[in-house]
Amino acid sequence: MNNLDDFVAYFETAFREEIKKIGQTVPQKLYEPVVYSLMMGGKRIRPALMLLSASMFEKSVDHILPAAIAIEIFHNFTLLHDDIMDKADMRRGLPTVHKKYNENAAILSGDAMSILAFKYFAQGNDTRLHELLPLFSATALEVCEGQQLDMDFETRDNVTVTEYLEMIRLKTAVLIAISLKIGALLANASQTDADLLYDYGINIGLAFQLQDDWLDVYGNPDIFGKKKGGDICANKKTYLLLKAVEASDPLTLKQLNNWLLQTDFDHNHKISSFISIYDKTGVSEATQNIMLAYHHKALLALEKVAVPAQFKNLLIAFAGEVLERIK
Ligand code: IPE
Ligand code: IPE
Ligand code: MG
Ligand code: MG
Ligand code: MG
Repeated sequence: MNNLDDFVAYFETAFREEIKKIGQTVPQKLYEPVVYSLMMGGKRIRPALMLLSASMFEKSVDHILPAAIAIEIFHNFTLLHDDIMDKADMRRGLPTVHKKYNENAAILSGDAMSILAFKYFAQGNDTRLHELLPLFSATALEVCEGQQLDMDFETRDNVTVTEYLEMIRLKTAVLIAISLKIGALLANASQTDADLLYDYGINIGLAFQLQDDWLDVYGNPDIFGKKKGGDICANKKTYLLLKAVEASDPLTLKQLNNWLLQTDFDHNHKISSFISIYDKTGVSEATQNIMLAYHHKALLALEKVAVPAQFKNLLIAFAGEVLERIK
């Protein structure tokens, strides 16, 4: 395996087999949206990172697959419900599950996926999986906590950068971090190394979500696969918005606040107004800067992992890719 894509491909082959089995289960109306969601083309970074992390400590990573499948199904479950909560119509360039089917289908198929995730996690023969179950469930709960904070912030006008960072740590970074940590522990890494990889994952996860917020505004929707300005329309307290508020003159601040109070508005008008304020206040650069700081912290943690330097190259490369990702 020479790069993360090799781990993605290795994972995908095994995952497809499982998706096929899920697709043969009834009632069809419960599992069809599950298969749709799992087949619509995610990047698979979490399972790939889990396998990659394991490979730093053990040659064979076959036994990591059940946990890797579990993490990816759990991630996709969060997206089904997130898209209902965020009123998002598009994901990965396709209609979201609640748009293609309906809201109830997305709720129940999401529930099924969350349970399937735990089923797969407990399925591996590896006894360590059972020891790691509390770690997985605690993280899964943290993701829900982060999602709640994300929604709470929509209607708050005094969210601080510190609160924002804690919210994205919970909703996004912990799942990436636990993928690395579980991979390491299943491959007999020391607790110290597993914790350092978790630390790397948290910092890379924060950068990953910051870039996600940035792509909502500055990404190419055809590549990113989500509708432009979804966060703007939902009054999401993204890093870009918090920085814009900080850097705005009184008049601009008033404009921003007016938009945040509108309940009935023209989406494109709101999005273009926000973008011109974002451009004017230089929040794109500010976002790139804080991402660089987390990238640096991630690499510092990785440096301390007690494996030969060449085993770290793929994680160093991945950290670089996060800063430049376009989808
Ligand atoms: C999307 O995650 C949700 C966030 C945490 C930003 P990904 O960008 O990993 O989504 P897919 O699975 O590749 O579509
Ligand atoms: C993602 O946050 C967090 C989770 C789904 C847990 P977003 O709401 O920003 O993710 P996207 O942009 O819809 O993928
Ligand atoms: Mg969301
Ligand atoms: Mg969303
Ligand atoms: Mg987003």
